[in-house]
Amino acid sequence: ENPVIVAIDGPSGTGKSSTSKAVAAKLGLSYLDTGAQYRAMTWWMLSNGIDVNDATEVATAAGKPAIVSGTDPSAPTITVDGADAAGPIRSQEVTAAVSAVSAVPEVRSRLVELQRSAAASASVGIVVEGRDIGTTVLPDATLKIFLTASAEARAARRNGELTGPAAADLAATQAALAKRDAADSGRKTSPLAKADDAIEVDTTELTLDQVIECIVTLIEEKR
Ligand code: C5P
Repeated sequence: ENPVIVAIDGPSGTGKSSTSKAVAAKLGLSYLDTGAQYRAMTWWMLSNGIDVNDATEVATAAGKPAIVSGTDPSAPTITVDGADAAGPIRSQEVTAAVSAVSAVPEVRSRLVELQRSAAASASVGIVVEGRDIGTTVLPDATLKIFLTASAEARAARRNGELTGPAAADLAATQAALAKRDAADSGRKTSPLAKADDAIEVDTTELTLDQVIECIVTLIEEKR
């Protein structure tokens, strides 16, 4: 049987990570969070004094960090030069800088190579989540899903993940998400986009379990 390759794309706050991990765990597949890789690259740039708004500087540095993703959906990991990066890549500094770094073609080509090799070495199959998986990274995926949700629902979900004073400001969360999505959709190199053959799932009115069930059913139909 051929490995099952599932591409899950969509804007921030649509539940991509929770959904992708659960689907992979249910079906015994590997899991890859490509957003975590762009965040890891960004964290390394910030930690090494690279000006993230200088695309030439970012391009030159893009080959330097060694980024390694663990693909077990029940305990995904990410390291940069051997150091655990799971915590620091979720900081507000990284979140604010990641769209600028991920727009640089040298960054993308480097990480796309890692992503394709992870998919190629998954023996049973893999769920890969990101922004350009169905369009660019794995155009021959078995199944492509494009997750969406209303701007209000996405901000409310993201706010639920935040703690402290940041959690109180729903309008600020919604504005920050809108800014990142506009940058990700508007960049030249493989922008956030739905592949022509992707199935769009609007999660606004669905529970996480309903979304998981829906995607598991779609995968089983393809197998
Ligand atoms: O999914 P997450 O919000 O962690 O992704 C962080 C950022 O990484 C996105 O806002 C986007 O700039 C970038 N990204 C990307 N291509 C992907 C995955 C993430 O450009 N496939």
